[in-house]
Amino acid sequence: MIAAHNLFISYRGRNILRNASLEAKPGQVLALVGPSGCGKSSLLAALNRMTDLIPGATVSGQITFGGAPINSVFATRAELCRHVGMIFQKPNPFAMSIRRNIELGLREHGERSRAKLKQITEHVLRDVGLWDEVQHRLDHSALELSGGQQQRLCIARAIALKPQVLLMDEPCSALDPIAAERVEQLIQSMRGQYTIVIVTHNLAQARRLADSIAVFWTREGIGEIVEHGPTETIFETSSSEIVNSYLSGRRG
Ligand SMILES: Nc1ncnc2c1ncn2[C@@H]1O[C@H](COP(=O)(O)OP(=O)(O)OP(=O)(O)O)[C@@H](O)[C@H]1O
Ligand SMILES: [Mg+2]
Repeated sequence: MIAAHNLFISYRGRNILRNASLEAKPGQVLALVGPSGCGKSSLLAALNRMTDLIPGATVSGQITFGGAPINSVFATRAELCRHVGMIFQKPNPFAMSIRRNIELGLREHGERSRAKLKQITEHVLRDVGLWDEVQHRLDHSALELSGGQQQRLCIARAIALKPQVLLMDEPCSALDPIAAERVEQLIQSMRGQYTIVIVTHNLAQARRLADSIAVFWTREGIGEIVEHGPTETIFETSSSEIVNSYLSGRRG
């Protein structure tokens, strides 16, 4: 569905990721794991060209969507972001009402029908398990919600645009354990419907959620993908000493 081929990323001329290739299959969950600073967030950002917005960032290599170069599939970044949504570590709802958070992107993409906006809003809030909690206060500020509720709202906002791919950068790590578990269950329930690429430092979570894993590592100061494949294979039969010691908590 979405793939990186021989990707190199640098910031102001300093290489931070070299020759990284990976792919997320349709409807599957791909987890990116590895120690801090090895380029996981940077690669994730490159997948929907968020790196275009970072001063000094240079990306070479290719990103493909459904097998075709991403720039040939989507004419603009806005189009790309509609199909390849992003969820950040820190929930980032807009400082406006819960309702407006969902409607804004839809309106920007041309949805004008009030009935349709209402219907989609209810639908996506139900999908993320928020409807019962917020249906009586849709016009209150989204900032009144708890962190976990805000994160589920951000996921609702993203899926309202019907993306095929969702990129998630440590979506549970700023949440308390109960809220984190709810978000993890939500991701679990989205399997099959969306292609998900998730960065996580929680290896148990990666094992529970992911169909496949890419293990990142830093060598000579530059990030690389040292192994990429099905979760089972990576956790149980990897022949890489680095991978085995990292996954067993002995390194990293
Ligand atoms: N905007 C930026 N400008 C300059 N250097 C950056 C920028 N963003 C990231 N880097 C550098 O790129 C390298 C990789 O960073 P990145 O955030 O991709 O790592 P990561 O694997 O996501 O780490 P973590 O697990 O801590 O989130 C680091 O050395 C970081 O300092
Ligand atoms: Mg990161």
